[in-house]
Amino acid sequence: MNLLVTGGCGFIGTNFVRLAVLRGHTVINIDALTYAGRRENLDDLAPTNAYGFIHGDICDGDLVERVMRQGSNGVPFDAVINFAAESHVDRSIYAARTFSMTNVIGTATLVEAARNAEIPMFVQISTDEVYGSIEGKGSFKVDSPLEPSSPYSSSKAGADLVVHSFYSTWGYDVRITRCTNNYGPYQFPEKFIPTIITKALKGERIPLYGDGKHIRNWLFVEDHCEGVFRTLEKGEAGDVYLFGGDTEMENGKLLREVLKALALENGQDPETYISLIEHVKDRPGHDRRYSLDWKASKKELGWTPSTSFEVGLRATVRWYLENRTWWERA
Ligand SMILES: NC(=O)c1ccc[n+]([C@@H]2O[C@H](COP(=O)([O-])OP(=O)(O)OC[C@H]3O[C@@H](n4cnc5c(N)ncnc54)[C@H](O)[C@@H]3O)[C@@H](O)[C@H]2O)c1
Repeated sequence: MNLLVTGGCGFIGTNFVRLAVLRGHTVINIDALTYAGRRENLDDLAPTNAYGFIHGDICDGDLVERVMRQGSNGVPFDAVINFAAESHVDRSIYAARTFSMTNVIGTATLVEAARNAEIPMFVQISTDEVYGSIEGKGSFKVDSPLEPSSPYSSSKAGADLVVHSFYSTWGYDVRITRCTNNYGPYQFPEKFIPTIITKALKGERIPLYGDGKHIRNWLFVEDHCEGVFRTLEKGEAGDVYLFGGDTEMENGKLLREVLKALALENGQDPETYISLIEHVKDRPGHDRRYSLDWKASKKELGWTPSTSFEVGLRATVRWYLENRTWWERA
């Protein structure tokens, strides 16, 4: 396929573009290179005809429409996949405007331009956080009500609604994916798992919010990317697909698991790392638990997560050990 990707220099976008090129797809990537975007993640793909980079903002309507109408080497795009976003919940608490600008206005700009340019399909990458927190047991389904609590998740929910309105209004083929917390290579060190790994390697205190009992579900990034490919290939216009991993864990336990994996990989005593844990004041509005029921994606797309948490975590830890200059520059 001939794909237009946005936010391809971020964590999930980088992993997706690399897999897409490996699978024989052609990708043009528009990225604004915010603090979270690293052009060099994909530099090795640049000499191939399969990948091209455009430095630009998804809120720039003229730019995105021009790129969409041009296609790639004159060949029309088959789909737009929007990974670009302001993605860090902590930052959103103090920057609601920036988050709304990129996540809502940027997405609206893209989907409108994509329809105008007659690109056959638009895929919006969203998050489980649009459903808000789910206490106790049980999991959100596709049609659970949207009850986001942070400026980040509310801007993502707003984007989802705008995207879906293009299906209701015009019958335009839009598809939305919502997934749980991703982990893997190329994730910016401000996020939880890379924070743990990089602070431990630097011998710094590792913060744990509140009582450490907030629960998250973890999905290896390549499994998420596979879900996006299946959405492109087997999804239906107007539908929403959920992707989650097989591991749901309290943050305190996750922190210890990551440190144990790091110690194992690094030949260190885990207790050296564990002694660095520091309980800090909780984040305001911190959702207690996220959980998705992704059985419908198994039925409709044939998708299941294929990487166990143990295997994915070891691969992630190894990547940060082998790419110290990457995260030290971040
Ligand atoms: N990381 C997760 O665990 C997770 C989970 C569920 C959903 N998501 C969603 O997946 C997508 C990708 O997340 P990520 O973790 O890779 O994010 P990221 O922060 O690592 O990367 C975001 C990328 O978007 C680019 N960008 C930001 N604003 C832009 C703009 N205005 N114009 C063009 N480019 C811009 C950045 O430069 C960066 O390359 C996001 O939409 C996010 O909401 C992420």
